[in-house]
Amino acid sequence: MQAALSRVVPEVPVSEACRVLQDGGLVALPTETVYGLGADATRDDAVAKIFEAKGRPTFNPLIVHVPDLAAAEQLAEFSDTARALAEAFWPGALTLVLPRRKDCPVSLLCSAGLDSLAIRVPSHPAAQALLREAGLPIAAPSANRSGHVSPTRPRHVREDLGDDLPILAGDPPQIGLESTILGLADGSVRLLRPGGVALEEIEAICGRAERQDIVNNSAPSAPGQFSSHYAPTKPLRLNAVKALPDEALLGYGKPGLFCLSEGSDPTEAAANLFRNLRLADASPQFTSIAVSPIPMEGLGLAINDRLRRAAAPRDT
Ligand code: TXA
Ligand code: MG
Repeated sequence: MQAALSRVVPEVPVSEACRVLQDGGLVALPTETVYGLGADATRDDAVAKIFEAKGRPTFNPLIVHVPDLAAAEQLAEFSDTARALAEAFWPGALTLVLPRRKDCPVSLLCSAGLDSLAIRVPSHPAAQALLREAGLPIAAPSANRSGHVSPTRPRHVREDLGDDLPILAGDPPQIGLESTILGLADGSVRLLRPGGVALEEIEAICGRAERQDIVNNSAPSAPGQFSSHYAPTKPLRLNAVKALPDEALLGYGKPGLFCLSEGSDPTEAAANLFRNLRLADASPQFTSIAVSPIPMEGLGLAINDRLRRAAAPRDT
């Protein structure tokens, strides 16, 4: 009787998540940005399971998570600028793409054929506890099906990846958007993906970062960023002044059903973005989704980046 009632696997403690990782399995883990789908980054077989579970093109490389800067320095070469950025923002929502060390033990699958590695030190207490107890670098992309909206609740992880995947217990992500990614491989600082740390804060530490058009549908050159990504199933209309009759409105600055932030706060809007996108997508009342204009300040840059991709024509 009871088994029939409780089909959903409960969230697991650190000890259990640790055992799964050490056996080469997959575990979803909360971070301060979004939920990650974690595996032992040093094992090819474990990392390969991530690509399989997500249905992810193997040329899209993965972020490796470590507990602190000292652990990161075992894996990659840090320039002075890289170290200054790490000291300013780690633990936190910043990913650095750095040259791999010659003796780097991380699976080459994580780098997808590049000689660089993306590294992040998460601040979330459950992620930190798991990294420290497992004593392993954890490869973890966002725990969603490839191309879909990133998960900010355990429910979202289950919707995308099924009920059998163990999920590490812990508070849901506070930021709600993926990390900011900077490329530091060639001496300069390039913004590869806007995210949870505002560009203004980063530039206060390292000076102006190069922007580039990060949309690239075929080549793995920098981050495998696809024009269509983070996509809901319903069509999405941006910069909407007003919702049409069949549209769910993700509003900004005034109250409403799926409002991102009544008080026009981009940080609050970031935290609500993916959850409200999923809710609007699932609501039978609406056939499409409209989003109010969101200013480019602070996390607004990352929000607009995600929205632009979510609204892009879908090729797959
Ligand atoms: O907040 C986050 O970053 C979350 C949490 C779980 O840490 N992770 C996340 O991972 O968003 P994912 O795989 O969904 O996005 C990682 C991005 C991809 O666009 C990938 O192409 C890029 O990082 N990336 C990874 N390694 C890279 C590398 N060596 N060079 C350039 N880009 C890289
Ligand atoms: Mg992702």
